[in-house]
Amino acid sequence: MVTNLKPAERLKRIKTSGIRRFFSLAHGLPDAISLSLGEPDFTPPEYALNAGWQASKEGKTHYAPTNGIPELREALARKAHCDYGLRYDPNSEILVTVGGTEAIFLALMSLVNPGDEVLIPNPGFVVYEPGVVLSGGIPISVPLFEKNDFKLSVKDVTSLITDKSRVIILNYPNNPTGAVLSYNEVADLAKIAIERDLIVITDEVYEKIIYDDAKHYCFAAFPGMRERTFVVNSFSKTYAMTGLRVGYVYGPKELISSIWLMHQYMVACVNSLAQYVAFAALEGPQDFVRNMVKEFDRRRHLVYKRLNEIEGFNCALPKGAFYGFPNIKSFGMSSEGFAEFLVNKAHVTVVPGSAFGNYGEGYIRISYATAYKQLEEALNRIEKAVRHLK
Ligand SMILES: Cc1ncc(COP(=O)(O)O)c(C=O)c1O
Repeated sequence: MVTNLKPAERLKRIKTSGIRRFFSLAHGLPDAISLSLGEPDFTPPEYALNAGWQASKEGKTHYAPTNGIPELREALARKAHCDYGLRYDPNSEILVTVGGTEAIFLALMSLVNPGDEVLIPNPGFVVYEPGVVLSGGIPISVPLFEKNDFKLSVKDVTSLITDKSRVIILNYPNNPTGAVLSYNEVADLAKIAIERDLIVITDEVYEKIIYDDAKHYCFAAFPGMRERTFVVNSFSKTYAMTGLRVGYVYGPKELISSIWLMHQYMVACVNSLAQYVAFAALEGPQDFVRNMVKEFDRRRHLVYKRLNEIEGFNCALPKGAFYGFPNIKSFGMSSEGFAEFLVNKAHVTVVPGSAFGNYGEGYIRISYATAYKQLEEALNRIEKAVRHLK
């Protein structure tokens, strides 16, 4: 009899992601509409998919170089120059990863020593806290408040920095709140990073999904930041390629070589064919991205308008990503209770704000990466279900 089949101690310190849990709650409900997953409902551009098919016919199905196929790294170097005015050496300062998720994990694993404090946004993307915990660090939540449009406040960051602070994770446009940062807000954070000698992991996977007059400012492009910053990005959201699992990271040579070491032993390389798809997506016409964002914008306005018409919801108009993060406090339920109520009564799945950290309590995340008609139907159902609550 096996008596030793117990998970390692470190697993006791992390729990299942609240997103997956709510997604699976709807499995037994054939008419359920999911507003819970953060993935575009678009198909990647055809020319990109064809490039993957072509690569497979040419037999490019073998291990790729550990840091990624050269043409993709070179294209990523051009992108950094064109988008941010930054030069990264494709051989030593860019690594292609298994989505942004691997990049975040690698960055944490290669930087954080036991007991180091890592500042993370709260509410924040579900990977940050377990990533910090598994790397032996201590996650320190920087609260994001609705009254500040869920922006990271320099004052809060400053007050939380101690002698043990080593890394800060930034994420803008933000998941789950959709908040973006202005030039001055990013510049202020950059000043603190220098003053307090912080290494920065900036998660910019939603950089292209922004609305109205919003602009994206890459953190590494601010004075003194390039040498202390990992820029995490991904093809998942921009090109609707979540399942192909291609992400990337830019950083100074010393940092990239340490994550390369871990990446080598953990995954060997990223799926070869998917890298050809990513390369073609990046080099091809970008109308796909523009059209997708235009459609997200239409849905963003729908969610904003309809939710605010329903008594009890208070929803801001986020400037980035594809999430609404309405305040549901007036319903007098926990965000988890409210999300369960919506699954049961409306057959609509959303994610409780608390799945993104305790400061997400009192909110739910509604992903509008779902077809317009489905979204309309889901909002009708939500309206009908909550009528009895007030
Ligand atoms: C803020 C943020 N960062 C990173 C990721 C990781 O995406 P992927 O691993 O698919 O690139 C996600 C996915 O939802 C996200 O929301």
